[in-house]
Amino acid sequence: MAKKIVITSGKGGVGKTTITANLGAMISDMGYRVALIDIDFGLNNLDVVMGLNNYVTYDMCDVFEGRCRIKQALIKDVKHNNLYLMPSDKMKSASMVSGQNVKLLLEGLNSFFDYIFLDCPAGIDVGFHRAVACAESAIVVLTPNMSSIRDADKVVSILKSYKLDKINLILNRARGDLMLREQMITPKDAENILKTELIGVLPEEDDVFLSCGYCLPKKSQSYKAYKLLAGNIVGAKKGLFDVTDRYTGFLGSIRRSIKKGL
Ligand SMILES: Nc1ncnc2c1ncn2[C@@H]1O[C@H](COP(=O)(O)OP(=O)(O)OP(=O)(O)O)[C@@H](O)[C@H]1O
Ligand SMILES: [Mg+2]
Repeated sequence: MAKKIVITSGKGGVGKTTITANLGAMISDMGYRVALIDIDFGLNNLDVVMGLNNYVTYDMCDVFEGRCRIKQALIKDVKHNNLYLMPSDKMKSASMVSGQNVKLLLEGLNSFFDYIFLDCPAGIDVGFHRAVACAESAIVVLTPNMSSIRDADKVVSILKSYKLDKINLILNRARGDLMLREQMITPKDAENILKTELIGVLPEEDDVFLSCGYCLPKKSQSYKAYKLLAGNIVGAKKGLFDVTDRYTGFLGSIRRSIKKGL
């Protein structure tokens, strides 16, 4: 039976799709069978981030409308053996898709996968409610600024009205240099404000942009942070990535002054 986890946020552009793709890659590399569902109808781009857009023949809506079977629409990732994508349809808006269809699709995938991640649209509209209603647990992504935290607070309070097993946070685009200068909220601050447990801290990093958000270089800080996050999700309790680490000590202070000068 697959664990169904929705990756959501209040504010848009905080990194949900990037995180869904990389988390899927990490967890599939650990030997788990993973399906990623792009449930952001109309603004779907998980296929683009994963570099699979040219492989899309059928999508989820073709399954709903009987033009193909579930397995025909699933796309196997090129670089990760146990990873599959269920693409979405640009031409459909969230209101044109029924929640029952999505539930049936997930039931159809249930026995083939260990984890199913749903890449949710931003905000708290119909698309958000549909995705959450199909999930067993939720991860709220936020960035370290007040407007993102405020939106995440709203989302967490709505999520509490659903019968979810777990609600966790991921703090994305965290900068250790700014945290040490007390110019950015820390993971502890975010956890205290939202009264919700953090399951991952991911650094703001050029490598994410340079790799188009997917297949991060193994030497990157993000790769290490994702590895810890993936471990926490599968229950191995790996702890949180410390974004301040590389800015402490002698070398760290040089890095900090270089960053400040940029
Ligand atoms: N840790 C990071 N460091 C640097 N850039 C990042 C990081 N995380 C995400 N990004 C960049 O931020 C942009 C937005 O990311 P993404 O599309 O994943 O957000 P989203 O929450 O899915 O957006 P939407 O709400 O529109 O669906 C992308 O260009 C991505 O590469
Ligand atoms: Mg997205």
